[in-house]
Amino acid sequence: MNRLTLRRPDDWHLHLRDGPQLRAVAGFTAERFTRAIVMPNLKPAITTVAQARAYRQRILEAAGENFQPLMTLYLTEQTSSAEIDAAAASGIIHGVKLYPAGATTHSDAGVRNIEKVYPALERMSSNGLPLLVHGETVDPQDDIFDREQRFIDTVLAPLIARFTTLKVVFEHVTTRAAVEFVQGARAGVAATITPQHLLLNRNALFAGGLRPHHYCLPVLKREQDREALLAAATGGDARFFLGTDSAPHARQDKESACGCAGVFSAHAGIELYAEAFEQAGRLDRLQGFASEFGAHFYGLQLNEEHITLLREEWTVPASYDFGGAQIVPFRAGEPIRWKLSRTAG
Ligand code: NCD
Ligand code: ZN
Repeated sequence: MNRLTLRRPDDWHLHLRDGPQLRAVAGFTAERFTRAIVMPNLKPAITTVAQARAYRQRILEAAGENFQPLMTLYLTEQTSSAEIDAAAASGIIHGVKLYPAGATTHSDAGVRNIEKVYPALERMSSNGLPLLVHGETVDPQDDIFDREQRFIDTVLAPLIARFTTLKVVFEHVTTRAAVEFVQGARAGVAATITPQHLLLNRNALFAGGLRPHHYCLPVLKREQDREALLAAATGGDARFFLGTDSAPHARQDKESACGCAGVFSAHAGIELYAEAFEQAGRLDRLQGFASEFGAHFYGLQLNEEHITLLREEWTVPASYDFGGAQIVPFRAGEPIRWKLSRTAG
């Protein structure tokens, strides 16, 4: 197969940042995806509908009016029921993000004691507003490779059992345990999967030396985990859908004695998934994963337009501009097997 035409995909987990950085990266996503669930972990965090509305406007200015940013609120222990009601009524907010405090980049405003957000979760259950979860424990005693599993056992499973109608997206799942948990969960529980977790295992962090540009959270896991993720993504199960978690950081913040977590993949946000699906011999299932299952979960229409990918190798630039600084993209200086066709489908 040398051409692949798909219903236009959506990215159900994306970091766009703000200001000149937003203007540097937004176009990559808008070129490939019609919509994206935009993460609220700015500094300061997007915790109110008013902030989300203003951020949405800045995204539209950066990405163009054809791109549809689907906004999220950052859940804190102070999030009020009134704010949740306003979010549900806003028409622009499609989820509320739970960051365990300290779990990842800009998560310090997040949740320390889950019971403090029970009133907000109750309200989200009645309003039908999904909870988007960064699923890792934060206890420094927990082995970093076990934090997702521990989070399932100690936080997520009890939470899903307690709030029986709450819609939950377990974001960027990275382990076989998470895949099995989602497969066995009640209706209304789904998961996103990133391209790096489908294509790499944790050896990629140490291939010939320390590789900061492969460091993201949750961190890459074992080969057996990657295999389970690939099987889930390509298995035609509507609970699993595309979320790149593209998370740009300036080169100097990655190539540092204490480097930031995040892989930038928006420059090839659909092409990398095509590679993974091709590896599995399941290109026929890419459209469901990339362009249909997420929209069904969020209760949105499918996109009517299409994109075409060509089976044509190209080399990723060594870096892209990042509003004055540089970002080193996923696969920098290396080939990608699929290319977005820039002429109409
Ligand atoms: C994300 C970021 O940089 O904002 N980093 C990452 O490694 N994925 C935050 C997140 O989604 O965990
Ligand atoms: Zn993320």
